[in-house]
Amino acid sequence: MTSSLRLYNEANPSILVVDDMPSNLELLEAIFQKAGFSVYKATDALSGLNIFANNPVDLAVLDVMMPGMNGFELCKTLKDLSKQQYCPVILLTALNDSESRIQGLEAGADDLISKPFNTSELITKIRSLLKLKELHEERDHSENIIMTLVVAMEARDPYTTGHSTRVGNLSREFSSFLGFSEKEQAIVRKAGILHDIGKMGISQSILCKPSTLTIDESKLIKKHTIVGEEICRPLMSMRSILPGIRFHHERWDGSGFPDRLAGEEVPMIARMLSILDSFDAMVSARPYRPKKTVHAALQLMASEKNDGQWDPELSTAFLTMMQTKAAEGYQHV
Ligand SMILES: [Fe+2]
Repeated sequence: MTSSLRLYNEANPSILVVDDMPSNLELLEAIFQKAGFSVYKATDALSGLNIFANNPVDLAVLDVMMPGMNGFELCKTLKDLSKQQYCPVILLTALNDSESRIQGLEAGADDLISKPFNTSELITKIRSLLKLKELHEERDHSENIIMTLVVAMEARDPYTTGHSTRVGNLSREFSSFLGFSEKEQAIVRKAGILHDIGKMGISQSILCKPSTLTIDESKLIKKHTIVGEEICRPLMSMRSILPGIRFHHERWDGSGFPDRLAGEEVPMIARMLSILDSFDAMVSARPYRPKKTVHAALQLMASEKNDGQWDPELSTAFLTMMQTKAAEGYQHV
């Protein structure tokens, strides 16, 4: 290991190399150091895992054929451990058959390189994977900032604290109930958390006003759908949730805002959020009214489901899901 204590992880990326042949380790260490990387070395998978758990590893290069845990298994374990933070893995293999390649990709490897390898090809692949990692981190950083802003925004108003998180959780449950894939569930959940992010720019005195809003105040509040979309649009990773943010106040009968879309013109994600947002608002207290019980809110939604606010079919599905949850003792917290 060339450096055991580093404060800054970008100027000198670190590579974990695991190979049971000490001569291969020495060779790879010399190549990587010459290319400007820090190197952590291990001659077996368990030592590699130990280094990975205790050091800032940016990328791993693993030999496939090792006694004990082989490179495929080690790759899968490293990927499981680094779920929250992308860590590229390259497998070095003497096996050149397509079955091994498939096995490597299934283990989550970002690339497989055949031995004997070409040094400049290996370094080029490492640099491009490190660039990809950097992009992942920038995206995560930006998303974290936006998520933090939502919490900060809600903390200004005791009446809305937790609303976004609850709508986010309900969004995931509802999309699972509707049979959406895990990836789609994650998108709808993110949209649920961020649907009101545009309220960030609205003054507290208007948001918490206990009396009737003036026409201008009402117009200002309605703009939160457009402002929210503008806040999230620059992030590629937010593209899929923009329709949820912009259209969550549209109505099935076309009398909503901001674009007065109607029926299935309103994107599915927004039709779902409209129902979940309304439900959570009903079971939460507001300065101008007390909260409803879950039972009373569901009853009211059932009686109004064909009145033009929500997609009737989706409302029916939501009521079915919630009635089951209520029967199981669901409480609004
Ligand atoms: Fe809203």
